[in-house]
Amino acid sequence: MEGIVIAIDGPAGSGKSSVAREIASRLGLVNLNTGATYRAVALLALEEGIVSGGGESTGGDLVSLARRVALHGETVSIDGEAVRDAALRTPEVSAEASKISSGKKLREVLVEIQREAASEARRQGGAVVEGRDIGTVVLPDAEVKVFLSASAEERAMRRARQSGRVGELERIKGAMAERDRQDSERETSPLRPASGAVSLDTTGMSFEEVVSEILSLVEKSRRTASR
Ligand code: DC
Repeated sequence: MEGIVIAIDGPAGSGKSSVAREIASRLGLVNLNTGATYRAVALLALEEGIVSGGGESTGGDLVSLARRVALHGETVSIDGEAVRDAALRTPEVSAEASKISSGKKLREVLVEIQREAASEARRQGGAVVEGRDIGTVVLPDAEVKVFLSASAEERAMRRARQSGRVGELERIKGAMAERDRQDSERETSPLRPASGAVSLDTTGMSFEEVVSEILSLVEKSRRTASR
């Protein structure tokens, strides 16, 4: 039997990554981080000096870069070589990833890569897939769909603590607001809850509370499926 897919979408700092990792580890599923594919293209674009926001010509260049990216389970690679997580998480790559992710053609290529990774993971028991458009576009048939959110204040604080840069809270808040705007206002696959998604505002919730809430949704879905 094919495994379950759990889609977790939400804005930056909503806790998606740590929650997805934890759920995958508790249920023995593969954790797929789709944001890493956008980050890998952003890293390549910065390295190769491709300026984003340049219309169709840039779109074509970005598609060529995207074809060099692969996603297998938890590993993102460029030209067949695994990329270190730290290289994908710099502020420059974060800002660039948000900018390039509005490209329609680029998204089409990355969505295909993500779907293949999810099919591969399904055959290995299932996956927790996190991103912005997993429930709406990439895997609308996911058995469980969750949309995580939290207040802008709390998301910025979590991000600052996570990266050990609490002194830069205001700068982080500003950068996050800009990414939120770009992610939710873009024409292609804007960030929004999928139909059938359970929205969870995690402001004031503990990590464990969020994890248990999602685990109970998974349990419910499994019970329904076995009826
Ligand atoms: O989740 P993240 O912060 O690593 O994602 C990096 C960027 O990639 C983010 O600004 C939006 C974009 N992204 C996207 O558009 N769709 C996804 N499924 C995942 C990420």
